[in-house]
Amino acid sequence: MGLLKSFFTNCAHPRGRMGRAMLRFMNFGHAPLTNWGLDFVDFQPGWTMLDIGCGGGATLKRLLGRSNEALVYGIDISQESVAKARKVNADVLDKQVFISQGSAENLPYGDEKFDLVTAVETVYFWPNLPHCLQEVRRVLKPGGKCAVMVEVVEADSVWTKVVDGMTAYSPEQLKKLIDDAGFVDTELHRKKPSYAAVIGVNPPSSH
Ligand SMILES: C[S@@+](CC[C@H](N)C(=O)[O-])C[C@H]1O[C@@H](n2cnc3c(N)ncnc32)[C@H](O)[C@@H]1O
Repeated sequence: MGLLKSFFTNCAHPRGRMGRAMLRFMNFGHAPLTNWGLDFVDFQPGWTMLDIGCGGGATLKRLLGRSNEALVYGIDISQESVAKARKVNADVLDKQVFISQGSAENLPYGDEKFDLVTAVETVYFWPNLPHCLQEVRRVLKPGGKCAVMVEVVEADSVWTKVVDGMTAYSPEQLKKLIDDAGFVDTELHRKKPSYAAVIGVNPPSSH
């Protein structure tokens, strides 16, 4: 595998030294997309939130900054991501921020725990996205929101060529997947050049 391809494959599952470099890069590189997408969420004090595919943990900090007295959970399949996210959130770790290793396919949380679930630049890598979205609905409170943010929206983009196992969804495809999972009042926001944020509401009578 070429060095460049090997580096970018760390987007899907950061590992080792290159993975750590990628996590450092993503923590600031994804700030504009994340902050833009989070602006569409009407945050309330005391929320319990989950960031799936939390990477190096910067989104966990950003979520904490938007809701007073919040509890924020992060999960990621990569051991390297979990270690970095724990380091970045060390001051509040296991007090306000809780980070686990695991997959979107099988979330280790009880039903109806979260007010908001976020997923930034990660759904490309989730196997069986419709199933994962059902998992998201299971852990969301009735009326809770799911916010998915992406900036790779072309199926044949340069990214999907260099990153193994990556699936790019168009914003419309993502919205349909979220609607089909049973979310309601789904909003699709776009910003040039390719930002997309799709936000769905878990119906109040879902369980
Ligand atoms: C491109 S990085 C984005 C990280 C972070 N959300 C950010 O915006 O900086 C994708 C992350 O998703 C994680 N990931 C991939 N597949 C996953 C899965 N099935 N469940 C949970 N996390 C996953 C990867 O390990 C990686 O840390």
